[in-house]
Amino acid sequence: MAYIVAATANLHKVEEYRELLADQKVELKSLADYPNFPEVEEDGATFRENAAKKALSACIYCDVPAFADDSGLVVDALNGEPGIYSARYAPTEAERIAKVLQKLAGQTNRKARFVCAIAIAANGEVIETFEGVVEGSIIEAPRGANGFGYDPIFVPDGYTQTFAEMPAELKNKISHRAKAFARALEFVEDEMSVLDDDF
Ligand code: IMP
Repeated sequence: MAYIVAATANLHKVEEYRELLADQKVELKSLADYPNFPEVEEDGATFRENAAKKALSACIYCDVPAFADDSGLVVDALNGEPGIYSARYAPTEAERIAKVLQKLAGQTNRKARFVCAIAIAANGEVIETFEGVVEGSIIEAPRGANGFGYDPIFVPDGYTQTFAEMPAELKNKISHRAKAFARALEFVEDEMSVLDDDF
């Protein structure tokens, strides 16, 4: 069976991708299958740049088509923080959430969005990048135990539950990652010949 490498070792993300790819005739591998893959420095200025760098490194190292995402939480009242620094905003997940809530204390503008960029690389080059966004707001205190990262403090527009209170199937339908991934998948299905050599 053909396979593609998801350039992440984040098991939550791999699980989300596995569900998103469930109906596809492609086997998903991840960097967990390539334990010696060297760390890629995320030094890009945008989500797209970081995703492209990770996808290209994985494609070259694993010698198969690869995709990578870079994602994060963008909070309007914090001038876009934590943004591309979402994963390293503070040492632990709990501290990252606490930092956002503390910086937003007393702030009435709670508007925020999750952004996800996905890059696809094959045959040693980045082929395309895609972006998905889910708009929402930051609540006052964490709720829910599902998901990961900032999920317990993010309520998507049109819903009352946080991402961490929703069943995974619902989050995976409406999330930034799902939207970016749907665009990437549409492209791959249309342009399969680009990847044919490797598939
Ligand atoms: P990345 O692995 O460099 O893309 O970092 C993404 C970081 O953004 C994660 O470590 C989380 O802190 C945050 N993030 C991205 N997507 C989500 C999500 O779906 N839910 C909660 N937090 C997320």
